[in-house]
Amino acid sequence: MRMLRSILGAVTLASLVLTSGACTGKVTGADDNCENEKIRLGLAPACAGCHVAGNKPFFASLTAFENGLVYDERYVKRGDPENSMLVQMLEGTAAGSYPQMPPGQPYEELVAHGRTSLTIEQVKAWIRDLPPPPARLEAPDAEAFTVRRLSAEEMVVSLMDQLGLTLEDFVSTSDPDWRNKAYVVNGGKLFVWPGDWSPGISDQYVSDLRSIERFEALGGGNSLLYRKKDVGFGPSAAQTLVQMSQAWCARAVDKKGNTAVLRYVTLADTSASNPDAVQKNLRALYLRMLGQPPSEEEAKQLYEQVYVPLEAQKNARLGWIGVCATLIRHPLWITY
Ligand code: HEC
Repeated sequence: MRMLRSILGAVTLASLVLTSGACTGKVTGADDNCENEKIRLGLAPACAGCHVAGNKPFFASLTAFENGLVYDERYVKRGDPENSMLVQMLEGTAAGSYPQMPPGQPYEELVAHGRTSLTIEQVKAWIRDLPPPPARLEAPDAEAFTVRRLSAEEMVVSLMDQLGLTLEDFVSTSDPDWRNKAYVVNGGKLFVWPGDWSPGISDQYVSDLRSIERFEALGGGNSLLYRKKDVGFGPSAAQTLVQMSQAWCARAVDKKGNTAVLRYVTLADTSASNPDAVQKNLRALYLRMLGQPPSEEEAKQLYEQVYVPLEAQKNARLGWIGVCATLIRHPLWITY
């Protein structure tokens, strides 16, 4: 558990750093956007967990934030913080079905515990001085709200592929006819598999029903059980993905001859003995998992805040599992 926490701690840290900086990048010149971006990043630790995908992905990008939240009169009344639902939600007093965001925990408490540093007063001040919407919002924006989460099927398939794993890594293949029978799941592998894809009918298709339950927790459907897939990305999906990413990354690192995660290093290389190889491998893994190379800053953060501490805590193996699992929980991995 301590190890898990420290991985998660590192992940939170890393993903925060990984998403910042948009203000200086794509957004062109305007300071207004920067103010909006600061508020977005300030609220993100309290909100992004549930709002980077699904039908209210306000925190997926600055554009999504502005189009979906900031310049929607229902949520933010320019110049009038007291009558803005956003403020009321932070204060837990909004009318309607969702009086409080985040649900279940007063925003002030998060500030008090240092989980976020942006205060409600700062949000109010920002709304008081909120400039009119940037011109680009008046034209339809192809980028807005087009992000969606990966489906559970896509997560299972692409993760196996990216990590160099196959079905045979999870189920027993000793019976030559194994593909046509209920899969016998090897223990401790955290197999996740759609009920709809397994041979047989009903619950005979896998020896370990948890592999199907996990798939459903990831948001996957099950036609035999008339279960629709869940297009949101709630806490149970996030939790399942955390477990799955750690177990599958460990499997990928331990699999003999598998170069999916360890392409330019072996477990004998460390940040002390071969820092260049470690850095190179980290960048290659980032590209492999997220489809774009990391910025200098991101590569540095991932190295210094995820890899190095885990390596120091235990060994290179844990460092790579941590880096790999961090990338899987990156917003770029989860969304499409
Ligand atoms: C634990 C998950 C979770 C967190 C964290 C969370 N939300 Fe929500 N939010 C929801 C759900 C669920 C809904 C309602 C379902 C929907 O419309 O997607 C919702 C709806 C909303 C809505 C639309 C309400 C409406 O009536 O139209 C706004 C605005 C919103 N959230 C803002 C925020 C903000 C701002 C934060 C951070 C301070 C936040 N949320 C944190 C889960 C969350």
